[in-house]
Formats: sequence, structure tokens, C-alpha cells
Amino acid sequence: MADRALTVVVPDRIWATERPVWFSGVRLRARTTVVRLDDGGLLIHSPAPPTDARAAELRALGPVRWLVIPNGFHHLGTPAAAACFPDARVIGPASAASKNPALRIDVDIADAAFGAHLPEVEALPLTGVPFLDETVLYHRPTQTLLGADLVLTADADDHWTWRWAARVTGCYQRVRVPPDVKKRVADKAAAARAVRAILDRPAKRLIVAHAAIIEDGWRDRLAEAWRLVGVDV
Ligand SMILES: [Fe+2]
Repeated sequence: MADRALTVVVPDRIWATERPVWFSGVRLRARTTVVRLDDGGLLIHSPAPPTDARAAELRALGPVRWLVIPNGFHHLGTPAAAACFPDARVIGPASAASKNPALRIDVDIADAAFGAHLPEVEALPLTGVPFLDETVLYHRPTQTLLGADLVLTADADDHWTWRWAARVTGCYQRVRVPPDVKKRVADKAAAARAVRAILDRPAKRLIVAHAAIIEDGWRDRLAEAWRLVGVDV
């Protein structure tokens, strides 16, 4: 990780770090989130390849037990993270495994057994958007939603390339469905049900990969983003 320090999101429970990633000619921020579970083990959401220093920092927080690939795209850092934390089990979608031969998935994120492994976490699949194949997680103890590409935004902290592209695509300082996703919503009724299920959770915050952490008004901002692509939530 070309790394910024881990920052505290929820004291003793959630930390996050961002790294720059280039995608379609723009430099986005990509977030990895670390959740300390009730048993003290760590869940790493959207793992980045850990440096030695970051691995030591994580081990000091607790044993790394779970690595979560949230959709069919955010899998690139997981093989290195899995090698670094060999006792951790990898949760993710089959679509990621089919794209990345280096990837080992231990628990399919769509499997009903997910809840037995992680009873404090609810899996909320974003159905109707198989292109993305994302599953949002709701961590009940901290009332936190964890997603990746469900929505994004750009703001003053972002690199000029993404600030510029975000102004052109309407994402600057606005929470929006990613431009490459909005044309690929295959089933808008299914997506509406999925987004409504997310909106129904009593969450205090929505954490996604390519945006600042969304707290104030997260529900209205998420709903607006999906309504703009024709999903009736
Ligand atoms: Fe992404």
C-alpha cells in the first residue's frame, strides 16, 4: 500500500486507510476498512497488498481472521493479503475468482453460511447489477454499512484527474453511482429492492471505496444516486 496511516473510524472497532489507484486514466482513492469483531478477530474489507509495517500494525490490533472481497473488481490486493495472513479466510464472490486465478475464496459471499461464520454481520447483495456483483455488509455492533463501488464521489481531497472527471460526470461533491456502473444496471426492480434493503438498515455511516466516509444524510444521498439511474427507491 502506498500508504496513508490507519485512521480511526469507530474507536476500538473500525479503522480505515486509503491508497491511490489509477482507473480509466484518473487517480481515485481506494479504501481498505478494518473491523474488529466481537471475538477480537479482524475483518479486512477490500484488502490492499500489505506492507510489512501495515501487517505489523494490523497484527497489533488483533488476529486477522477474514479478508472480504466486496465485488467482482476489488480483488487485486487479496492474494498478497492472504499470503501475509495465512490463517485468514477469504470471503468473496465467484465472479472475482473467475477473473483472478491467484485468488482463493474460502466462503462465497452469496452463501447462506455467511451468517453462521459472521453472525454480527449481515450480507446485503446488490442484486440486479451482475456487472458489479457487489454485496454490501452491515456490521450491526457499530451500525456501519461497508460497500465498495455502490456509490462514489470526488471532493477537494482527491487528485486533480478525478476531480476533473468527476465534474464532467456529475460526481463532484455528489454521491453517485459510478459512471461505468450506471449503464449496466440489468434489473432495475431487483436493484431497487436491494438498495431499499440497504436504506432500511439503522446505519450511522456508509463506507465505500472511492469517497470520504458518508455519515450525514447517507440515506438521502444513496437514494438520490440510485434514483438518478432510474432505480425507483
Ligand atoms: Fe472500485
